[in-house]
Amino acid sequence: MKILVTGGAGFIGCNFVKLVLAEKPDWSVINLDLLTYAGNRESLRAEESTSRYRFVHGNICDAALVDSLVAEVDAVIHFAAESHNDNSLHDPSPFLQTNLIGTYTLLEAVRKHNKRYHHISTDEVYGDLELDDPDRFHETTPYNPSSPYSSTKAGSDMLVRAWVRSFKVQATISNCSNNYGSYQHVEKFIPRQITNLIDGIKPKLYGKGENVRDWIHVEDHNRAVLEILAKGRIGETYLIGADGEKNNKEVIELILELMGHDPKDYEHVSDRPGHDMRYAIDASKLRTELGWKPRYTAFRDGLKATVEWYQANQAWWRAAKEATEKKYAKLGR
Ligand code: NAD
Ligand code: TYD
Repeated sequence: MKILVTGGAGFIGCNFVKLVLAEKPDWSVINLDLLTYAGNRESLRAEESTSRYRFVHGNICDAALVDSLVAEVDAVIHFAAESHNDNSLHDPSPFLQTNLIGTYTLLEAVRKHNKRYHHISTDEVYGDLELDDPDRFHETTPYNPSSPYSSTKAGSDMLVRAWVRSFKVQATISNCSNNYGSYQHVEKFIPRQITNLIDGIKPKLYGKGENVRDWIHVEDHNRAVLEILAKGRIGETYLIGADGEKNNKEVIELILELMGHDPKDYEHVSDRPGHDMRYAIDASKLRTELGWKPRYTAFRDGLKATVEWYQANQAWWRAAKEATEKKYAKLGR
């Protein structure tokens, strides 16, 4: 099996490539990544010496390049995206380009070459839930995205559904909740607070910190993607989540405690405009149909390992940290 991974220099994609190379000895991987501010080639530098891995520096919107790479492989797993809500509120344009035109470009190539395609998406396409809503997101929840990020991801999902129906493209979609783990960019909530503490800066909580996210370890997400590739039904959507609901205050207090600080020693900063209140996933379809279940069931243990990774790998995140904090300073957050 030869696969094309897009966005493999990003957080979830690089963890996926590592998992595949470690556990699928007869698979080879081409990683197509533009190396935007969010991509880091160092994440897979060691893997570059294996003949089963090839890095290609390029844009998923480049139709000729995408066509030639898709022709070479059996399947495409599409992770590449502009992925940060705060950036999308500041400048939506790269989100429209990469998330919509990039997905369209890949779909046209897999359609032409009749290749298997898996589309990585997010639970944010469903909008948000009230804190006391008894329901969670499931595969039939209506789309109701709030931000330029989530609306462009929603649009990309709709393109995939249309290409399946109109052109019989062999595609599946997964919508996952918030991931945590190693190699996540320091702009995101958990790595930002860990690296703030390493740098002697107080953790920053948007608004009251009551917003709830449904945390899943990145390895559990990627193992679910492998199950969908192996056994998922064409045209189907699978929600991925590990019953990990926590509010932001709880997460920040746990990070502070794990790093030896007073759990209340953080500051409140201005809230994100349009801030989604709660995400929560019902992953019964994935569990019952494909037999997937998460391996990281203790959030505290996964978070502790993540803290230790950022402590031990400062060279990986140092340059990005400075640029990120300059960007946040402009937003007053
Ligand atoms: P990330 O921002 O860490 O990585 C994105 C990668 O895509 C980077 O390496 C970047 O260089 C690359 N990229 C961006 N534009 C590109 C382009 N035009 N051409 C080629 N490469 C390009 O993102 P992530 O957190 O790893 O997210 C990966 C996917 O998972 C995204 O589709 C995202 O919507 C989805 N997702 C993320 C989460 C999460 O918690 N991070 C949760 C659910 C779903
Ligand atoms: P984030 O990691 O940006 O993911 P998403 O917007 O996709 O959920 O943020 C996770 C939560 O943490 C979200 O409710 C916003 C909040 N947040 C903070 O409170 N402080 C921060 O510094 C950041 C980056 C996020």
